[in-house]
Amino acid sequence: MDSRGPNRVLITGATSGLGRAIAIQLASRGWRIAITGRRETRLHEVAEEAKTAGAPDLLALIGSVTDHSTVASHYALIREQWGGLDWAILNAGVADSCAAENFTTTNFRWTFDTNLFGVCEWIEAVLPDMLASARALAKERAKQQGGSRADASPGAANPVIAGISSPAGWRGFPRMASYSSSKAAVSTLLESLRVELRGRGVDIITVCPGWVKSEITDRNAPGSMWMVLETDDGAARIIRGIEKRNRVVHFPFPLTHFLRYLVRPLPGWIFDPLVSRLVRPKKAPYVDESAADRIRHDVEAKRQVVEKLKDESSRV
Ligand SMILES: NC(=O)c1ccc[n+]([C@@H]2O[C@H](COP(=O)([O-])OP(=O)(O)OC[C@H]3O[C@@H](n4cnc5c(N)ncnc54)[C@H](OP(=O)(O)O)[C@@H]3O)[C@@H](O)[C@H]2O)c1
Repeated sequence: MDSRGPNRVLITGATSGLGRAIAIQLASRGWRIAITGRRETRLHEVAEEAKTAGAPDLLALIGSVTDHSTVASHYALIREQWGGLDWAILNAGVADSCAAENFTTTNFRWTFDTNLFGVCEWIEAVLPDMLASARALAKERAKQQGGSRADASPGAANPVIAGISSPAGWRGFPRMASYSSSKAAVSTLLESLRVELRGRGVDIITVCPGWVKSEITDRNAPGSMWMVLETDDGAARIIRGIEKRNRVVHFPFPLTHFLRYLVRPLPGWIFDPLVSRLVRPKKAPYVDESAADRIRHDVEAKRQVVEKLKDESSRV
């Protein structure tokens, strides 16, 4: 904690999975928590859990990361209440199993809209203030060092933008074209910013978790994942990696080391035949669950609007 009060974190997509677990763990350390998500009831439930866990202040911000004016108004509220953020954990994401037989641009737009443009929207909102606060911090440090040039290397006090990407973006994996390509874009976006902003006091971190229990992985076939972690364990590893200011936080060892340092650099003539075997042995016909997932969220969002209207009309 510093003179501004308890640390302030934003976590997008906190109604379930990793986002929810990160929110509760940071709440239990006394952080001020801003959480976002589209499912209002779930968001309020997580807000209650975080308050019980110890968050001194909590903002539950309902809406989609894909909507520019929603994100702008969410950040305006954070700024008004807390003056800015220490960490922005851009976690909201969707996964789209996308077989070549079912290839549609709609799948890609849907996936990129959340996984990439949702991250862009929040970076656009938070980065100017983070850079300004990093400049102020650097001035303060320079004063303390007697006027010498301030050091803005990664440090515990620097503001952080951490984007949750995925090892799936390290290569093009079969039946994951939209997810793999959206996460490759997120990792490259974060790397570009990290390099450009080096030494300017805002730490940009890429997080690439292996399989972690969540609503996304609940839909995967049993036996199709290796070394699956409990959600709380995944969240704790993400927080630890951010605290250490690792450029790329990836886990668990040895899964992500194997993928990052052995599979990723493989030449295509080895990678293609090897990885294509991953899909060949499947006997059951492939079912595209992405459409079902989209419908599930649309129905849930519409149900909430109807309930709100009913509630309002009963009060009139
Ligand atoms: N679990 C894994 O094994 C794993 C591995 C690598 C990377 N990841 C990444 O980790 C992140 C978290 O996923 P998870 O595994 O914890 O899955 P999850 O339980 O499905 O959580 C996804 C969260 O994102 C939110 N979300 C989705 N679309 C949104 C939108 N348009 N606006 C705002 N919120 C949105 C969902 O909330 P609402 O539906 O309420 O909006 C939900 O809270 C994702 O970026 C995922 O790609 C996960």
